[in-house]
Amino acid sequence: MFEEIHDQRMRLRLSAQDMEQRIAASPFGERSKAWAQRWLASESHGQVGLALFNLPPIIERAQGDILYDVDGKEYVDLLSGFSVSALGQCNEEISKVIQEQSKKLIHYFDLPHPERIRMAEKLSEICPVQGDASRVVFGVTGSDAVELAMRAARYATGRPLILTAYGDYHGVTYSTIAVTGKGGMWPYFYPVPPLDTGIGYYPFPYPYQSPFGRAPEGVSDEQWCLERLEEYFEYYFGSKESPYREVKSNITNVAAFLVEPYQSSAGYIIPSPGYLKLLRRLCDKYGILLIVDEIQTGLGRTGKLWCYEWEDIKPDMVITSKALGGGIPISAVVSRADVLESWGAGAHVSTQAGNALACAAGNKVLETLTSPGFLDGVTERGRYFTDGLRELQSRYPLIGDIDAKGIYIGIELVKDRETREPAVEESAFILKEAVRDGMVFEKGGYFHNRFQLIPPLTIRKETIDRALGIFDRAFAEATKQFGRT
Ligand SMILES: Cc1ncc(COP(=O)(O)O)c(C=O)c1O
Repeated sequence: MFEEIHDQRMRLRLSAQDMEQRIAASPFGERSKAWAQRWLASESHGQVGLALFNLPPIIERAQGDILYDVDGKEYVDLLSGFSVSALGQCNEEISKVIQEQSKKLIHYFDLPHPERIRMAEKLSEICPVQGDASRVVFGVTGSDAVELAMRAARYATGRPLILTAYGDYHGVTYSTIAVTGKGGMWPYFYPVPPLDTGIGYYPFPYPYQSPFGRAPEGVSDEQWCLERLEEYFEYYFGSKESPYREVKSNITNVAAFLVEPYQSSAGYIIPSPGYLKLLRRLCDKYGILLIVDEIQTGLGRTGKLWCYEWEDIKPDMVITSKALGGGIPISAVVSRADVLESWGAGAHVSTQAGNALACAAGNKVLETLTSPGFLDGVTERGRYFTDGLRELQSRYPLIGDIDAKGIYIGIELVKDRETREPAVEESAFILKEAVRDGMVFEKGGYFHNRFQLIPPLTIRKETIDRALGIFDRAFAEATKQFGRT
């Protein structure tokens, strides 16, 4: 048994020979190849860059929506450093704020400073949660904010269980891997399993590849998924007659739902409308806390400040990070006050949290996102990009489905629109072509056949046109190569 696992692991590993081949086959210039040699000789190979790309470009500088590698080659940025540089790389105003703050105060643990207080006030103001008042707690990374939210939810409710959806991504620290039900990650979580065992999973209402099977004639994929999920929860909570549980009651040992409102790392998948509303109803009925992880979906990405606003609900806790610090690491949990006030002084400690540079940059980010017309601009640019992609869809049957809200865009590639069979090789081929032509984006999906498009929210129309041109060529080439019309 262990030999089998060992063999599988050996196949996952990248040998020195694989690396040499990847470098030789890459479309990069000589300086890039030399830097890649140094990189691979010095850093761990367990990095996302090597999973997503055959070899990632070595980026030396960037401006707005364009990246430049060490050979000076340009790339259209449809990745934003995995959702971090939402206002564009080296945004002038953010750079200026960081420079000015660096002359005043860089960081001092855990004494408050004006930028930090301003940021907590602003987050409370713009992030509506349940209850009359809210409180904010800062972290450094997305994962530590998720852990903090889970811990606070358990502490406040006195209940052990956290429920999350299969396919969600909430981090890879030892507690957050337990709530990262993204199947592709699981082989890396052992032999020491997640240290958090009080976790339950349920299927995510992914309409296009429904975990409940295909919708019957006359029922939409969205409706089908949501109704099946609702039924699932009725059994789970024992609110329906079930062979497993006979007692009907409102008593539960669930502290919280911890959810991505849309599944981002799993492929930028938009669930059935009504998903969060359903969870909110269950939370209200059973006294469960609703924790919404807005690390990727929040801060204007979907055209609203927070994705949960689309469902017209209020969570109990909201987690934000990534784009929040304009590129400087910071995370925050915004919560209804009674939850974060249920514990005493010193209950939470993190040396680097609330960094002054990050807060100063973050305040500029929040000011920009909430300035008049900014979100309308996101919606308009998202529509322009999506219209272009839908035009490509009308010409390339490979594009089975497009999920889009604001500039949150997921594209699903299929071999056949009827069977929806994932076009795995085609997807890998197109990403490779795009990198060669000067564009980066994320490829993921439950079945490795989705493109996640995360350009800066400030992407220019001319850059969108350039991206559409690169996709057009790559889809045409893939259609020729794989023989589909
Ligand atoms: C939705 C979501 N939650 C949590 C995390 C973890 O954040 P970090 O990598 O900063 O720990 C991520 C990272 O991709 C994420 O996308």
